[in-house]
Amino acid sequence: MKKKVSIIGAGNVGATIAQLVVQSGIADVVLFDIVEGMPQGKALDLAEACPLWNSSSTIHGTNTYSDTANSDIVIITAGLTRKLGMSRGDLLHANTDIVRGVCTEIAKISPNAIIIVVTNPMDVMAQLAWKTTEFSCKRVMGMGGILDASRLKAFLSWELKVSPEDVEALVLGGHGDDMVPLSRFTVLKGIPVTELLPKRKIESLIERTRNGGAEIVAFLKSGSAYYAPAASTFQMIKSILFDEKRILPCAAYLNGEYGIKDIYMGVPVILGKEGVEKIVEVKLTKEEKTQFRKSCGTVRKLIKKLSI
Ligand code: APR
Repeated sequence: MKKKVSIIGAGNVGATIAQLVVQSGIADVVLFDIVEGMPQGKALDLAEACPLWNSSSTIHGTNTYSDTANSDIVIITAGLTRKLGMSRGDLLHANTDIVRGVCTEIAKISPNAIIIVVTNPMDVMAQLAWKTTEFSCKRVMGMGGILDASRLKAFLSWELKVSPEDVEALVLGGHGDDMVPLSRFTVLKGIPVTELLPKRKIESLIERTRNGGAEIVAFLKSGSAYYAPAASTFQMIKSILFDEKRILPCAAYLNGEYGIKDIYMGVPVILGKEGVEKIVEVKLTKEEKTQFRKSCGTVRKLIKKLSI
């Protein structure tokens, strides 16, 4: 039997993840949303594409939680994106209520699932998902670092005029504005980029990466990025389903690692069939440590504000 991946929230990110999973044929998918008809319509459309993709995956759209029962992986993309007149604070509280509600249902119906949180503010929502489900922290994680690293890799490859495949980047810390890129581990076929580009250039590409999400929102006007976020999530799904044990930057629960306790933060982890199988610790320089702690402080403040 194929593994079961349920995606909660069938909007742009959720539906694109669904496409990547069914197109690759690696699992069956349940696409859930509260909007009636929408997940059913998208699922039917994707199912009708499966013959063309030579995929035997099934996909089912639903508004009923029982259809997601006994999922192996649950992806949470449910939430609001900012609309006119809405403050970030409104968004934060609305998404807290949504993610808490989703997690309460998932914990009951898929008690053995691995949860990947995509909804923003992702680091905080991952902590909320862990607290609400009371699952082992190995089975609850957030998607962020892979996306930040992928953006940085894209920008570097354009600058260096090489294939992005030959660029490797490591990003720690909170997702987005607060990310902590480690330039000394950012390499072109093993050569540190610090030897290939002037410091100022690297810094400007890092700055563009920090604002990568906002740059896309500015073009789209309404809505935010979804192709690269979905592709990042798909990489996590694959590493878990196939027990690939890839080292990927994800939001994981820190319990003393990096000198930090009781908080979800972006760090490199080994992702396998158990979920977060190990947090990979990198010795940080003084400056990197300061940035990492600052990033933790921002997430901690939000956690406190929401009394998670
Ligand atoms: N249960 C299930 N789905 C819900 C719920 C809920 N309680 N509340 C809202 N949704 C659904 C919406 O109906 C919508 O279809 O979540 C979906 C969100 O989709 P989009 O608005 O298209 O947003 P998207 O671009 O997919 O982003 C989702 O991922 O990257 C993050 O910042 C982004 O937090 C946002 C999330």
